Amino acid sequence: MAEIQTPPYDLIILGASGFTGKYVVREALKFFNAPTSPLKSFALAGRSQAKLRQALQWATHPSPPPSIPILIADTTDPLSLQTLSSQTKLILNCVGPFRLHGEPVVAACTSSGCDYLDICGEPEFMEKMEAKYHEKAIETGSLVVSACGFDSIPAEMGLMFNSRQWLPPAVPNRVEAYLSLESDKRIVGNFGTYESAVLGIANADKLQELRRSRPKRARPAILGPPPPKGPLIEHQKKVGLWAVKLPSADSIVVRRTLASLTENPHGLPAVNESAEWVEKRKSFWSTVKPAHFGVKIGTKSLLGILRLMMVGVFMGILARTSFGRWLLLKFPSFFSLGWFKKKGPSEDEVQSASFKMWFVGHGFSDSNLASQRNSKPDMEIITRVMGPEIGYLTTPIILIQCALILLSQRGNLPKGGAFPPGILFGPADLRERLQQNGISFDVISKSRLPA
Ligand SMILES: NC(=O)c1ccc[n+]([C@@H]2O[C@H](COP(=O)([O-])OP(=O)(O)OC[C@H]3O[C@@H](n4cnc5c(N)ncnc54)[C@H](OP(=O)(O)O)[C@@H]3O)[C@@H](O)[C@H]2O)c1
Repeated sequence: MAEIQTPPYDLIILGASGFTGKYVVREALKFFNAPTSPLKSFALAGRSQAKLRQALQWATHPSPPPSIPILIADTTDPLSLQTLSSQTKLILNCVGPFRLHGEPVVAACTSSGCDYLDICGEPEFMEKMEAKYHEKAIETGSLVVSACGFDSIPAEMGLMFNSRQWLPPAVPNRVEAYLSLESDKRIVGNFGTYESAVLGIANADKLQELRRSRPKRARPAILGPPPPKGPLIEHQKKVGLWAVKLPSADSIVVRRTLASLTENPHGLPAVNESAEWVEKRKSFWSTVKPAHFGVKIGTKSLLGILRLMMVGVFMGILARTSFGRWLLLKFPSFFSLGWFKKKGPSEDEVQSASFKMWFVGHGFSDSNLASQRNSKPDMEIITRVMGPEIGYLTTPIILIQCALILLSQRGNLPKGGAFPPGILFGPADLRERLQQNGISFDVISKSRLPA
């Protein structure tokens, strides 16, 4: 019988020379060869040897860089991706926009059976990859998991954390998340995220088309009435924010996890799971109760919200024509009112930024109340997820923790398939790992609502 060869690398960071990629390298190095870490070997990959070398130097500065192999791969060259994916257990893909560059990487991983994680925040890409590669990934034993960054793990883990505070007989009905970005300096994002957002808006109808062509997913049974529509701008006094709906990937990814949970109420059976793990998985999911979920972005002043809405209007209108997109992409700083820059934030700007995401849950103190006519939630539980800067500190922390789970607990995860991160990593202690690495989850209050 032919011997199955273990690939030489535990993981490869593809797009390591990018703005986010280099921060991912810095985060990976913290765990490289540490005594209890499963990360014993890794390589950097991309299309420019010189840029990758610079990224490695930047990531280890002021220490000299360790000897990390550099591999050349281009997403326009399928053979280079095939070679890459045959050399590793796992690829961490940081090459975006994903709608432009992601599919060949997923195709290579699912063909060779290597696992794939990315930091994509583009719903159409995620759903398209699931539609096209899920079956192949099951067959070859490749796990394909998008959205392993700020999009959308704080939302996924944050909703689960809030939902698990509703102890029987209490049940949640809806959870609204309020994201607040904070800094003593300016809050700035890199062009890569901005470009991905512009292209996402431009192609919004493609996502609807894709969904219409796919079988409907299971809907979770949520107790109580549907959530009220609410005002366009909300003043959420409990968390001190003015807030408006955030059209991010978060609620879409959460919905996919809840659909997956409805189809698999005990979570996803794994390749090689022990009886102890099966027990843990089942007991974890038995405490997660589905709820309606939405995300809003908030600022302390009404003026801040009006500025955000202005950027949304610019992008919403201009992204729909090719000339408008050209303008948006040529002058990112102007059209985003300074929130996105071609060269990204400075190190100081990154270090001084942080986020808070408040989860305001409304539900019933007793599930029997939920089925009564005209029932209204009588209980509120507020929880909070808090961490450092979202794009270049929180995202690498999350991606690397997801990678370490894959490397250390592969037997507790399904053989293969394309899944949202929450359904895979929820019971695998991702929240606890994030907590140990600077992203905290706290219960803020539990109270009865006035009748
Ligand atoms: N989930 C989240 O919260 C989150 C956070 C941060 C970023 N992101 C996403 O991550 C993506 C990257 O953002 P970024 O700001 O880091 O962008 P970036 O600085 O432009 O980096 C892009 C990377 O992709 C590489 N690349 C481009 N075309 C390639 C090709 N044909 N073959 C191989 N590599 C190629 C670039 O290589 P070169 O250096 O050779 O140009 C670079 O390494 C975006 O889609 C963004 O939305 C998500």
